[in-house]
Amino acid sequence: MTLTDIPSGASTADGPRDPAAPYDRLIQPERVHGSLYTSPEVFADELAQIWYRTWVYVGHVSEIAQPNDYVRKNIGPQDVILTRSADGEVHLLVNRCAHRGNLVCTAPTGNSSTFRCPYHGWTFRNTGDLLGYPFHQGYGGRGQIELGLGRVPRVAVHQGFVFGSFAMDGPSLDEHLGEAKGEIDRLVRLSPAGEIQLTAGFVRHRARANWKLLAENETDGYHPQFVHASIFSVANSGIGALYGEKSTAVTRALGNGHSENDLRPEFRKLGVPLGWFGTTEAKVPDYVAKMRALHGAAAQEILVEGAPHVMIFPNLFIAEIQLFTIQPLAADDTVQHVTAVQLKDAPEMNGRMLQQSIGSVGPAGLLLADDTEMYERNQAGVAGLRPEWVDLRRGVRREEIDDRGLTIGGATDEVGMRGFWAHYKHLMTDGRR
Ligand code: FES
Ligand code: FE
Repeated sequence: MTLTDIPSGASTADGPRDPAAPYDRLIQPERVHGSLYTSPEVFADELAQIWYRTWVYVGHVSEIAQPNDYVRKNIGPQDVILTRSADGEVHLLVNRCAHRGNLVCTAPTGNSSTFRCPYHGWTFRNTGDLLGYPFHQGYGGRGQIELGLGRVPRVAVHQGFVFGSFAMDGPSLDEHLGEAKGEIDRLVRLSPAGEIQLTAGFVRHRARANWKLLAENETDGYHPQFVHASIFSVANSGIGALYGEKSTAVTRALGNGHSENDLRPEFRKLGVPLGWFGTTEAKVPDYVAKMRALHGAAAQEILVEGAPHVMIFPNLFIAEIQLFTIQPLAADDTVQHVTAVQLKDAPEMNGRMLQQSIGSVGPAGLLLADDTEMYERNQAGVAGLRPEWVDLRRGVRREEIDDRGLTIGGATDEVGMRGFWAHYKHLMTDGRR
């Protein structure tokens, strides 16, 4: 079966066209069709049904810390500007001049109360309002036009993480994040100030692969021992063992397409503060003292359990000390934006987090380069005509429901992927399936 063989929802004697029909066939509980990763038609549907509708992570308030700061971001292929106006409000504007569509902002980041379009000089406030246009007589005078920059209709913030949705209504950010919210909270709790800061700069990695291969891989605990064997050996890292058959770590579907590798059982077994980070209390004494002063007895658990490893649908991946955003450009073209997490008021930790991130996901890093090689080979492979399907059944017969009512499996099981696809199907079929 190929995509073209699948009934595309054409009108039949039974009734009108059903646009959800192909996705019923392409997405099954234990396998998905290869064309979902390669078809430009599917990608167009995804833009409409997912990227321009659901909540998408855009940026962090620490990137626009001062009044009039701005930073260029994206929602899928859309270019957007995250701004903070003089009154401190956060705005999410579409980077498109209201006159004839030119980009009004070309700098990646900066500080300005206005944006001046380079084409004909129209000027907009950082709230999106039109401020003025040259040679106003051609429009009958000043203040005759009320064209502002496009605004992303819904913007919401959780713990400084800014999300945008192009849908006028729908589930709230709170509802969308659901069980994943606690994982973001677990990350910011590692800062003595209760805040993270994304101030380390971003590296962009381009993968000639479909965005879903990246999203699925983020909590795929089956691959690390193979794909990342080289970095684990040169770094003398114990991470590989966390993703093995004997590991007590858990893969968990968090609902709404979110998933995590919950490594806490292994870190609790180890029982060493900062063991999750491969360091010791003695090496970061000021940080540990601040955390113990702030949290008292609870600091021990916080320092032992460490940071989350969570994929938040569709584009935010928090990998303990790194933060990734996935930006799809086409069915076979994706950019991954990566930065090191920095904890407010924790300079000892931040230097280490940055160094580790450079080694793993920097331009010459050993971790992400290996993953990217897999994404591109996978993209080439899924275009193969047989057997057409991508298998998702690993661990399906040993899944359990935990005390939160969430599906869990072993450290190497494909629980997260099955959760991803269930939500994907729900969105692609308008909730009819
Ligand atoms: Fe921006 Fe003309 S396109 S001023
Ligand atoms: Fe990997």
